[in-house]
Amino acid sequence: MCGIFGYIGEKNPLQVCLRGLKQLEYRGYDSAGISGIFEGRLLTFKEASKVNYLEDKVIPKDLKMEIAIGHTRWATHGKPTLLNAHPHSDGKNSLALVHNGVIENYETLKEMLKNKGVTFNSDTDTEVIVQLISFFYKQDLKKAVFRALKLLKGSLAIAVIHKDTPDLIVAACRESPLCIGYNEEKTEALVSSDPNAFLGKSLQVLFLKNEEVACIRRKEVLVYDKNGKKIEKPIEKFDAEYEAPSKDGFEHFMLKEIFEQPLTIQKAILGRYSEDFGTAEFENLSFSSKDLAAVSNVLIIACGTSFLAGNIAAALLEEKARIPTHTEIASEFRYKNPIITKGTLIIAISQSGETADTIAAVREAKAKGAKVLGICNVKNSTLTRESDSCLFLKAGPEISVCSTKAFTSQIAVLSLFTLYMARLRHYSKEEGTTFIQDLKKIPQKLKQVLDKAPEMRQLAEKYSKYENFFFLGRRYMHFTCLEAALKLKEISYVNANGYPAGELKHGPIALLDENLPIAAFCANKQTYEKILTNLLEAKARGAPILAFAPVGSEELLAIADDIFWLPSTCDEFAVFPSTVAGQLFAYYIAKIRGTDIDQPRNLAKSVTVE
Ligand code: AGP
Repeated sequence: MCGIFGYIGEKNPLQVCLRGLKQLEYRGYDSAGISGIFEGRLLTFKEASKVNYLEDKVIPKDLKMEIAIGHTRWATHGKPTLLNAHPHSDGKNSLALVHNGVIENYETLKEMLKNKGVTFNSDTDTEVIVQLISFFYKQDLKKAVFRALKLLKGSLAIAVIHKDTPDLIVAACRESPLCIGYNEEKTEALVSSDPNAFLGKSLQVLFLKNEEVACIRRKEVLVYDKNGKKIEKPIEKFDAEYEAPSKDGFEHFMLKEIFEQPLTIQKAILGRYSEDFGTAEFENLSFSSKDLAAVSNVLIIACGTSFLAGNIAAALLEEKARIPTHTEIASEFRYKNPIITKGTLIIAISQSGETADTIAAVREAKAKGAKVLGICNVKNSTLTRESDSCLFLKAGPEISVCSTKAFTSQIAVLSLFTLYMARLRHYSKEEGTTFIQDLKKIPQKLKQVLDKAPEMRQLAEKYSKYENFFFLGRRYMHFTCLEAALKLKEISYVNANGYPAGELKHGPIALLDENLPIAAFCANKQTYEKILTNLLEAKARGAPILAFAPVGSEELLAIADDIFWLPSTCDEFAVFPSTVAGQLFAYYIAKIRGTDIDQPRNLAKSVTVE
């Protein structure tokens, strides 16, 4: 998963590309590069690290190329090294190419080209594309790209330039997002994996569809279908709001985003409920209440943290709206032949709206005739274009790779959606009003948890020495503890496994001893007695126990080694304070262990390849 960007126009292409790439680092940041044409020569700068370091390598700083393409990488094929960084060039250094996607038949094509005398410099699948285009190149870059596309299998978004045509970028895509922007004055044109990287520009934007190829010049953008026939594309007016992300004085974006949650929860629910009618109201839900009343089952698809939020929402939809609901991990769902009935509503959850597995799962569900409700945090993202209707989190940009505020906002929005569905069924106005009042109390309760951050820091000091953890919870706390375990894994590189507490005795308990602490999420009143028993079983095996529990859970004093007290809430909303406590725990352990908290190793904010 990577970010690609290109520019041709009056401004300095190198500088515009560098700025665009910084906006795309959420898609990968293990290496970066830029190529451009300067006085008929192809120049390339690469760095096996983040865009900032690449920027330092660009000499002279005011180098004014005629055109430039750039890339920020998340390695799929070949380690994150200088050689494997993009752009890749052909042997004659006449062509340069950037790619987002995975070429599945690259080894076969590589052998074929090697037999024709082509030598390869990198371990990447991408280099095969540029060598193939070069092999077919006969003074017509577009033609060479079309010929190469016919042989390439897999997902791709590419942009390619040739030193003989310093006024042309050829771009193409298949199962990977790519958009082109140009201004009305026709003095500049840009290509990008994500329109939001067009930073504050007011542009005409078009989105390439599968197998389409574009020839991008500053004065003209021509698009061709897979047969090479010129086609007209729908143009969207696009004013990229641009708000330079700031840490607001916090040391890391993650900590800032954790502390934003009292406000982001308010923003997520503001104007979306009516206490008079005890129900929810959504400004842009394009499904009618009649459509939604006819929904007989819900299928939630997502990945990672969004999948865990989906499981909390599934428990809510079943318990409150009495709608059979199940969840599917998108990367699995996209390869099963799903059972979708007339009454099935698909809910696709994605903070970025660009996660390739979730997008592919949505397309599969739509191919089966399903209606899709998207839950997303990024306007103009692919999910918003693929969904029949989309509810936005309004959480503001989430910069830290480790998702925090998006998770709690996903649950807040899906809680209101559950209320809407429940009121369309058996739920009374009074029940609805109580539900809303309980939800409205959450921002204040989160403030109480955040005020105890120093206490969490001390606990983290004590527990940062452990390399392995079990996270336990029951009912709503099951997926809450899985999310907390995921946070700890992501940013501290500690092996943390979450389990439904009742499952421990069916195997995992064998691992317990004094070196494997338990983080116990005990805020589910309905199963409180049960988790006490599970913790006693764990204590009997010598495991240290850190409990996250609502005030009043006195029995834990005799069982747990440490307790982080939480404000009490109803069971369905206990996820909020428990999650924020889990986020702080992970953050402080990572801080003590000195890992790269905002851009942890091997990860990317949005996973845009399979
Ligand atoms: C969460 O901290 C991770 N970054 C990851 O699990 C993420 O939730 C997953 O990749 C899904 O991303 P999305 O919500 O943007 O689709």
